[in-house]
Amino acid sequence: MENTFPKDFVFGTATAAYQIEGAVNEDGRCPSIWDTFSHTPGATFAGDTGDVATDSYHRWREDLALLNDLGVDAYRFSIAMPRIMPTPNGIPNAKGLDFYERIVDTLLEYGIKPVVTLYHWDLPQYLEDAGGWLNRVTSYALGDYAAVVAKRLGDRVDTWTTLNEPWCASYLSYGAKEQAPGLGLGPGAFPAVNHLNLAHGLMVQAVRDIVGDKSKYSVTLNMPFNRGDADACHRLDLIANRAFLDPMLRGRYPDELFAITKGICDWSFIQPGDLENAHQPIDVLGVNYYSTNRVAMSDRPQFPQETGPSTCPGASDIDWLPTDGPHTDMGWNIDPQGLYDTLMRVHDRYPEVDLVITENGMACRDQLVVNEDGTKAVHDADRIDYLERHFAAAKRALDDGVPLSGYFVWSLLDNFEWYFGYAKRFGITYVDYATQERTKKDSFLWYRDFIASRG
Ligand code: FCB
Repeated sequence: MENTFPKDFVFGTATAAYQIEGAVNEDGRCPSIWDTFSHTPGATFAGDTGDVATDSYHRWREDLALLNDLGVDAYRFSIAMPRIMPTPNGIPNAKGLDFYERIVDTLLEYGIKPVVTLYHWDLPQYLEDAGGWLNRVTSYALGDYAAVVAKRLGDRVDTWTTLNEPWCASYLSYGAKEQAPGLGLGPGAFPAVNHLNLAHGLMVQAVRDIVGDKSKYSVTLNMPFNRGDADACHRLDLIANRAFLDPMLRGRYPDELFAITKGICDWSFIQPGDLENAHQPIDVLGVNYYSTNRVAMSDRPQFPQETGPSTCPGASDIDWLPTDGPHTDMGWNIDPQGLYDTLMRVHDRYPEVDLVITENGMACRDQLVVNEDGTKAVHDADRIDYLERHFAAAKRALDDGVPLSGYFVWSLLDNFEWYFGYAKRFGITYVDYATQERTKKDSFLWYRDFIASRG
């Protein structure tokens, strides 16, 4: 595939702290909700935990050298709050800050832009014990933590991203039981939605107070793109997308969101000032995109509402239909047109922000092969095909007027895939978990050539 992206287009890869670092008890880190959750029997597939993960807390140099070899312009990684603020007393842990400073400085030596995610789901357990995202105190704690990180790393960070996928951090984590803390409260997850929006705004304000406009500000969402019945799509758009984007970018919740959740949520947890705080100027909206859903309205009544666990409270009368293949190893359908449609739609609605694809990639059943000369390889032609088709869709959106400025492949290396543990491989680098040996997959080599051939 010819690389016709503009010269200043940013190519990168992405990871997240709990998925790669391991070293959960080292240098003063406190437990996070993902430590607790993954150690709960039955909570993750095969009981996998992030205790060791890809051991990147120790192998960070090797991993950053991979990035340098790949030739990326930027690296999106997350900072673990449990390493920075390990106790409720507000005193930062110097060793945690030192670790991320080494990463940032090494990236800069390589000429790679650091793109930091401040919250990629690893909430300190002590905050969860006080109510977690159901308690607004958490939002303020995140603001304080952001200030601590900004004071140390300041404008060496190219882009500050507040949250990764608040949809998962609220509905999947408090509404359902799929992710930590896995409370399964159904509509009881709505306060978490508001407190995540508030935390986003408080973090932007905290960092901007210190760094000013020398860095860019952003937030990353998965914006599930639904195909099918228009009513069902509209309802899900309100719950999954606009419940976050409208407060952050418009300073209000859609009236229709209140209407469709009437009877299950009174939204009285929104306090005066919350929306003003949530609504802060940002430069970039991060889009995580993997696949699409197909939905329809069912015959079940919307009221009385569900009270049990739900990944989408307020949508009890919507059916999720099987999608057309082919599917990835996650069972997610491959739909590059969905990426194009998502970018066009998001830009149409929020034209004031640049867009960056902060995650896109594919889980495959990768096989490590040992060549006769002892070298190793992974022939992941299916992943290369997936990436080529999604890059082409992104380029079409760019040509059609979307201010798309970057693309981060998920992920630099295989890692702890949350509920699925080590069973699902998203990396362009293969990790042998028995030895922690890294092997570049064919997709790594393809991406390296693709980046180098730009322009
Ligand atoms: C996203 C997460 C990321 C990774 C991918 C596959 O929802 O942000 O950490 O697990 O899915």
